[in-house]
Amino acid sequence: MQFYPPEYFDDMKNGYTAIKTVPLSSVMGAEILNVDIANITDEQFEQVKDALFRYKMIYFRNQQNMSIDDQESLTLRFGEFGTDAYTQGMEGHPNVQRVLKEASSVVDWVFGDGWHTDSPFLEQPPSISLLQSLEVPPYGGDTWWSDAQIAYELLSDKMKEVIADLKVHMSAAFVLQNVNSGKPKLNDLTLGDMQLTVDQQKMIEGSFHPIVRTHPETGKKSLYCDTSYSMGIEGMTQAESKPLLDFLGWHNTREEFNCRLRWEANMLVIWDNRLCLHKAFNDYDGYRREMIRTIVNGEVPF
Ligand code: SIN
Repeated sequence: MQFYPPEYFDDMKNGYTAIKTVPLSSVMGAEILNVDIANITDEQFEQVKDALFRYKMIYFRNQQNMSIDDQESLTLRFGEFGTDAYTQGMEGHPNVQRVLKEASSVVDWVFGDGWHTDSPFLEQPPSISLLQSLEVPPYGGDTWWSDAQIAYELLSDKMKEVIADLKVHMSAAFVLQNVNSGKPKLNDLTLGDMQLTVDQQKMIEGSFHPIVRTHPETGKKSLYCDTSYSMGIEGMTQAESKPLLDFLGWHNTREEFNCRLRWEANMLVIWDNRLCLHKAFNDYDGYRREMIRTIVNGEVPF
């Protein structure tokens, strides 16, 4: 079986003259070659953006020339900065988050643990996320992504009818429970080496979003639900919604729809939260992992 016809990944057919793409799995993800992010041209940017919507997640190796300012500039080419729901950003760079786990840290949860899209409990969740690796463990600390567009397309027509108009309740209740580990609900929390500044009440109240989302640029539909933040379905009891969400959450991250990245230092990864889910791994105790993250403000999902 092929999820996409081979020509879907053909650079010539896709008009990619200023970049080269190397697919990571047969369903999603691609390495982009021939781009120096610090000096990216307008032509390259347009092709990179098209490749992002095609592959859902793209990555660039050997970006040692890229500064935090360069990451900010690239982020702003996609749209204005999103407000991160978890951290206040770095000193001098309020829109840049440091994702850090020290070698000495032993934690039950790392930032980004569990399949999710970024902050879907917000009214306008971030559309695109950019993650630059400064220091990575020699092994472990991979990130996984899963293609939510193919997941939607491979549902039966009957299931597509059933879920067509449903709204999913996205809330951080479950995630905060794990971060809190039973502690009282404070607005200042730590997650390993990261200081979190969160409005827990608002994050738990969350938002109701269409479970079938339409991408504003491609018009393609994808399945918008996960196993971290999808807490219920508008108008349904928990007994009704749970089995449906259990199925959809599993289906949305089936192994066949995944790609997995083994990080190197000085990589930049960009993913579109409207087209894929992702999860971080907590499997590198004894090694330091430091990333720099920016997000683009998204639309109200429709
Ligand atoms: C995230 O979920 O944004 C972080 C992913 C990672 O650190 O691998």
